[in-house]
Amino acid sequence: MTTAFRSTPSLQADVGGGRISVHGAVKRYGTFEALRGVDLEIESGEFLTLLGPSGSGKTTLLNSIAGFEKLDEGDIKLDDRSLGNLPPHDRNFGMVFQAYALFPHLTVLENVAYPLRVRGLRKAERQARALHYLEVVELVDFRHRLPSELSGGQQQRVSLARAIAYEPKVLLMDEPLGALDRRLRQSLQYSIKALHREISATIICVTHDQDEALSMSDRIAVMNEGRIEQIGLPEDIYQHPRTRFVSSLLGETNFLEVRPVTSSAGITIVEERSSGQRFGVKGDMRGTAQLLSIRPENVLLTQEVQEEGISLAVRIRSRTFLGSSWRYECEIKKGPTIIVTCPVGGATHAEGALVNATFPSSSCAIFDADGRSASTELTEPNKHSSNQGRML
Ligand SMILES: Nc1ncnc2c1ncn2[C@@H]1O[C@H](COP(=O)(O)OP(=O)(O)OP(=O)(O)O)[C@@H](O)[C@H]1O
Ligand SMILES: [Mg+2]
Repeated sequence: MTTAFRSTPSLQADVGGGRISVHGAVKRYGTFEALRGVDLEIESGEFLTLLGPSGSGKTTLLNSIAGFEKLDEGDIKLDDRSLGNLPPHDRNFGMVFQAYALFPHLTVLENVAYPLRVRGLRKAERQARALHYLEVVELVDFRHRLPSELSGGQQQRVSLARAIAYEPKVLLMDEPLGALDRRLRQSLQYSIKALHREISATIICVTHDQDEALSMSDRIAVMNEGRIEQIGLPEDIYQHPRTRFVSSLLGETNFLEVRPVTSSAGITIVEERSSGQRFGVKGDMRGTAQLLSIRPENVLLTQEVQEEGISLAVRIRSRTFLGSSWRYECEIKKGPTIIVTCPVGGATHAEGALVNATFPSSSCAIFDADGRSASTELTEPNKHSSNQGRML
């Protein structure tokens, strides 16, 4: 797939993206609030992904920015100018809809050329541009077909080509790769990234695919029940989730229930509920049950007890070869199973083996009973732990 997007001069006089500001956005359908007060600043030329489960309000927010939905409260601005009730076509944003929304009576080529015709380009130029962007999405050979003669994934690629054909300042995409198979999805992810660098448009992309969000975005906004739960760089969201919801939405996570035992001098000793194994947590933790989360790839499995980090004695219940890694299911006595992934090439462990699962305190997050971040600063636990290295 080609990445040489700028084969033709840009249609936009001032190339570069628009800055989008959303303030206090509320959208109601009857008594149901689909958006419950969303604030969002998207920088010029930024690639922002709205990530969230089904029904969290992603499409509603995107459609409000596009002008297809009218907010009940709040305001949306483009470069400090309120968009108010400006109709969608006057906003001049490129849009890839969740349901492809192609013109059924136009061919693939005519669909992609359509926004260029609306903008008054001559036939030869709009044909050349449309063909170029059909090349980008690998559909030149399908240019004479009607949308009804295409698969869902192909229709989505036509929709993408149509949205980028006139190189808009703001490109809004609702699950643009949702219907594609894995190979095409990955290939188009890289192409969209390359396209973004070329045209420097501001891109807002909706997805519920965490890999897509992590690989394409400058920043990710995680949505939950009509609100933005956390916004930040992909690596920050992944490594420092502020809520249990965010932690479990992005990647696989182990949760351990811990209970504060004693607290003094800013250190709380906590006990892993099922096994009784203990370690220290910086800060004064109160209440009863709390949750500690740790990613599978941050856990080390060893025969010997490690000097540093939090260590739990576990038994390997099963292991699966995944190509570039091994995935172990490890059982804490009378307690939960934790998942550990280890790169291929290191030590392997047999099913049934008794080993130590050790993880650095810095890669854990602690959540309170409401699933909110309680403390992410953990001390070196071995100085405080009891039952250290106890085998099951
Ligand atoms: N026209 C409508 N009338 C009533 N409720 C609606 C309408 N459109 C959306 N909703 C509701 O608003 C909530 C948010 O919908 P939205 O389409 O924004 O979700 P989404 O995050 O895009 O989900 P998905 O990933 O399934 O596309 C959902 O609970 C949905 O049922
Ligand atoms: Mg949606």
